[in-house]
Amino acid sequence: MSNNNRKILVTSALPYANGAIHLGHMLEHIQTDIWVRFQKQRGHTCTYVCADDAHGTPIMLKADQLGITPQALIDQSSAEHQRDFKAFMIGFDNYYTTHSDENRDFSAMIYTKLRDAGHIAEKIITQAYDPEKEMFLSDRFVKGDCPKCAAKDQYGDNCESCGATYNPMELKNAYSAISGAKPIEKDSKHYFFKLGNFENFLRDWVENHVQTEMKNKLNEWFEAGLQNWDISRDAPYWGFEIPDAPGKYFYVWLDAPVGYMASFKNWCDRHAVDFDEYWNKDSKTELYHFIGKDIAYFHSLFWPAMLEGAGLRKPNGVFCHGFVTVDGKKMSKTRGTFIMAETYLNHLQPEYLRYYFAAKLSSGIDDIDFNFEDFRLRVNADLVNKVINIASRCAGFIHKKFAGQLSASLSEPALYQEAIDKSDLIAHYYENREYNKAMREIMAIADAANQYIDSAEPWVLAKKEGCEQAVQDCCSMGINLFRVICSYLAPVLPKIAEDVQAFLNLDDFAWDSIQSPLLSHKINKFKPLMQRVDEEKVSAIIAETKLKLAEQAALTSQAETQKTELQLEPIADTIEFADFAKIDLRVVQIINAEHVKGANKLLQLTLDLGGESRKVFAGIKSAYQPEDLIGKHTVMVANLATRTMKFGDSEGMVLAAGPGGEEIWILEPHSGAKPGMRVK
Ligand code: MSP
Ligand code: ZN
Repeated sequence: MSNNNRKILVTSALPYANGAIHLGHMLEHIQTDIWVRFQKQRGHTCTYVCADDAHGTPIMLKADQLGITPQALIDQSSAEHQRDFKAFMIGFDNYYTTHSDENRDFSAMIYTKLRDAGHIAEKIITQAYDPEKEMFLSDRFVKGDCPKCAAKDQYGDNCESCGATYNPMELKNAYSAISGAKPIEKDSKHYFFKLGNFENFLRDWVENHVQTEMKNKLNEWFEAGLQNWDISRDAPYWGFEIPDAPGKYFYVWLDAPVGYMASFKNWCDRHAVDFDEYWNKDSKTELYHFIGKDIAYFHSLFWPAMLEGAGLRKPNGVFCHGFVTVDGKKMSKTRGTFIMAETYLNHLQPEYLRYYFAAKLSSGIDDIDFNFEDFRLRVNADLVNKVINIASRCAGFIHKKFAGQLSASLSEPALYQEAIDKSDLIAHYYENREYNKAMREIMAIADAANQYIDSAEPWVLAKKEGCEQAVQDCCSMGINLFRVICSYLAPVLPKIAEDVQAFLNLDDFAWDSIQSPLLSHKINKFKPLMQRVDEEKVSAIIAETKLKLAEQAALTSQAETQKTELQLEPIADTIEFADFAKIDLRVVQIINAEHVKGANKLLQLTLDLGGESRKVFAGIKSAYQPEDLIGKHTVMVANLATRTMKFGDSEGMVLAAGPGGEEIWILEPHSGAKPGMRVK
């Protein structure tokens, strides 16, 4: 049985308002939503809030670029984000925005308390400033030539080419990535949160409130020393002005976590719930944050310290998850694996993904790989062939032969008992976010149910005289096991649970209701609950993702070109056809690619030219990992005289285009083109 009613407040990290929801966000929201639905099913009072993270320079600049106000941009994002989350059945109690009155008030209140208690320091700092845009530039908005290796267009903090780190004013030929103007140095007063004041508190708090893996990471941070945290930004900045500091704004990460409180407050006011009961220093309610491992520093150090300093309650747990990878690699725009929630939804039911993530999620911070083939096989094997199959094998007989009436007793009470005996274990797994283990237990029950039906053979009995009762009994037994399984799966599959509830004529899936089986109970006609995952649908997602990314890239490069007035290279002098005909372009396959010791830009490629192999150097290191190139087809100049370079001979050249950095693309012919074919 469930323990006493708990009051729990749960959050997922607030997605930035300048980008679309993608599979990575979905992992987090699915993980959180399953946990929340589980708590509700257990009868606890559990409230799930989230919001868009609506402040900061990138949002201000993106609105600028689109020619709309930041408010218009965040309104539009919020509508799109909520549309995607709803489609995935993420059951927020409230989805709000950090650009709200509640958030402004709480941020000011917390800041004021910290300031009055002596936790805020002021300091003049020197920063790069864009005299044309009249704004300070953070490191990522200053670009120029690397002071060490002279590589062009490097960011203000480190060089992608040689790995050197420096400060933005050391760049040669520095320019503002926003206006192109030459930055100047300018002084400005900044406000800092003295995190070091909380070291003892944090060392204690971390001990009992974060996962073991995170503890190790946090210990490294403690060892490195807790630095003061710059919480202010100069105007123009899209955010909240700091009380008593005109022209200074809270850095987006100050008011972002406060957005959790603000979203909850907004909900409390509309539902007559006592906000203070949840947030006072000695609150008996529980608070949990689900986040990705990239934002652990903010949630496990800054946030608890801010709450402590402001005299508020601290979280009971910060639950970190790993990152979604696709086919074993980081989701990437160049590889076309940066899959948007919307793209997925255009082709497949949301519950497949909910189940797939559940089957892979543990309580740890390991990355979660999304592999299309594994996904398709897993969902089909578990949900369609195992779970849904139980109902489709039994429901027809009950409906046709017994007017939907289940038997008055269970034919295999021991088997039913075994299934409900798993209740505590499965609940334990859900509670501890070991969904993968919960799914394994549930599928074991489904296997047992199918074995039972296999051996009872209702379809054989149905043809025999005098076996009526046996048919009703074994099908009723199957339906009862199906109900237990669906009850266990309800947090993961909310829509299916709802359909099953209607099919089985149930009031709800309260966690403990499976303790009494459905006897002499009338059920409704069975309708198919789920289709198999189709291979074509899966490839359509990849194709659409690639198309969208290409469109997006074209749009941004257009915008970039307009913005920085980049000149394309002029077309070279005309040549005669005979000259062109001398160039022998061939399709090749890259059979090996490796780094070149000491080279900043080059990779060495081994090319298969249809039997013959060539070694060439290509200046594409900034855009490709060697392992991503292997197997690709591209085009080479096959009759270029061998050139002797610093690192060895290059026996030809491959063709590529792009402005530079990550944006260089080798030409890739259609896969029908085979190595050795001439390009004409
Ligand atoms: N706005 C901040 C969070 C503020 S919370 C007070 C932010 N936004 S985000 O949109 O970049 O990320 C939102 C959440 O999605 C974070 O928890 C982040 O870890 C998670 N993920 C983003 N990409 C992800 C994957 N590829 N995989 C899994 N989760 C990832 O950070
Ligand atoms: Zn460099």
